[in-house]
Amino acid sequence: MTHLKPKVLRFESLPSTNTELSRLASEGAEEGVSVVADEQTAGRGRLQRAWTSPKGAGLYFSILLRPKIATNYWPLITMMAAVAVYDALGETCRMQADIKWPNDLLSGERKICGILAEAIETPSGRAVIVGIGINLSENAYPSELAGVAISVSEATGRPVDREALLAGLLRWLTHWYSLLNESAGPESIVSAWSSRSSYAFGRVIQVSNGDDVWQGTTCGIERDGALRLRTANDEIKLVRAGDVYSLRPQ
Ligand code: BTN
Repeated sequence: MTHLKPKVLRFESLPSTNTELSRLASEGAEEGVSVVADEQTAGRGRLQRAWTSPKGAGLYFSILLRPKIATNYWPLITMMAAVAVYDALGETCRMQADIKWPNDLLSGERKICGILAEAIETPSGRAVIVGIGINLSENAYPSELAGVAISVSEATGRPVDREALLAGLLRWLTHWYSLLNESAGPESIVSAWSSRSSYAFGRVIQVSNGDDVWQGTTCGIERDGALRLRTANDEIKLVRAGDVYSLRPQ
């Protein structure tokens, strides 16, 4: 059984917690080493986007994992992280979030947390840096994103105890990552994810991946994390990458 033992390194300011942890991993850092910064000056999001990271406004966190699971299940790592964030927000902030496939945490239809996983080669083998950015207060995101972004304090009406949220996140990451590495790990993660996400079943969505665009209704998650989409001509399309947009907000 894998028992993750997170070891947190704290910084006032970094370009990016993912970049710093990647450097430490290349120098031989062990699984579980984590980096937290009060601010990031070059925070990175998916698809080469910037992740605005003003001082004290968000939780900017990265953890190093060295998964034992087959690489076709690696997409489940970010889904596992999304489940851990969901549970930490519920436990420590009394906030019920939603998860948009594969790993955006939402409050209503607005994004409250993003996850960026980067696979890297290190002297002791392949590893993954899982970077998590949670908006804690409204100055975490640029004002022009106010329609699509939100923070935990806005969603709950209460200030956030960042240390309590970090402690909860470390606990839930430890729990779900241990499960992921068991033989029934993929089923456990898919089931946990599906029971926490309104996107698992019955959501009418559009998925874009470069020039490919599909529309349909979601109908579950495959064992490797792929999203099942029923299209208008009743075909099931398996989506393994892409940006999801809700066509009928709930
Ligand atoms: C996304 O685009 O949704 C993913 C955003 C991930 C942001 C986090 S903040 C901590 C870590 N360090 C980074 O540079 N990015 C991730």
